[in-house]
Amino acid sequence: MRTIHYAVLNEISCLQTIPQTILDVGFGNGSFTQAVSATFPRSDITAIDTSIPKLVSSDNITFIKGSVEQLPFALESFDLVITVLSLHHWKEKSKGISEIYRVLKKGGRLIIGDPLLEDWMSNRILGLLMQVLDGGSFTDKKRISGYLNTAGFEDISVRLIPNTMKSLYLITAKK
Ligand SMILES: C[S@@+](CC[C@H](N)C(=O)[O-])C[C@H]1O[C@@H](n2cnc3c(N)ncnc32)[C@H](O)[C@@H]1O
Repeated sequence: MRTIHYAVLNEISCLQTIPQTILDVGFGNGSFTQAVSATFPRSDITAIDTSIPKLVSSDNITFIKGSVEQLPFALESFDLVITVLSLHHWKEKSKGISEIYRVLKKGGRLIIGDPLLEDWMSNRILGLLMQVLDGGSFTDKKRISGYLNTAGFEDISVRLIPNTMKSLYLITAKK
């Protein structure tokens, strides 16, 4: 696991109550979902990704194929939504954030870990280079805060993750 994963796990641990229902958006190879499952074995975890490798759902994890822009879940299904290193791959970030808001329960939390492009020159150039290499499209503090506000989120916080490259952020919000 990378520092960003530990930062997200730590953020979950700091929540006032252990989330019973967790959605992991963009789970990749599923190893972080498995780490979340090992840390919170009593939580019921659903993990969704547009491309799904051969992963076997375990006792408390269900892996499914789908996109954040059109989540196949009912209104207010989850206590917590996490998404790590995935946001910059989403084609419609604003739509994805609104969908997450829809499926979160009232008082539910969103935790995003992702690089953000910030406007000091070297970061911007590094970010643009990474974007080309990675095939994604990074957003920035202002835009992500705007998407979260528009969707209806409260208590929005965007902070740099310490001890990582200078553009990795933890973005948290509450429905
Ligand atoms: C770099 S991987 C991150 C994997 C994992 N979360 C981690 O931290 O190791 C990004 C994942 O986001 C997924 N993804 C990209 N666009 C998506 C979308 N619109 N909806 C859901 N998942 C998406 C990709 O298929 C990919 O598996």
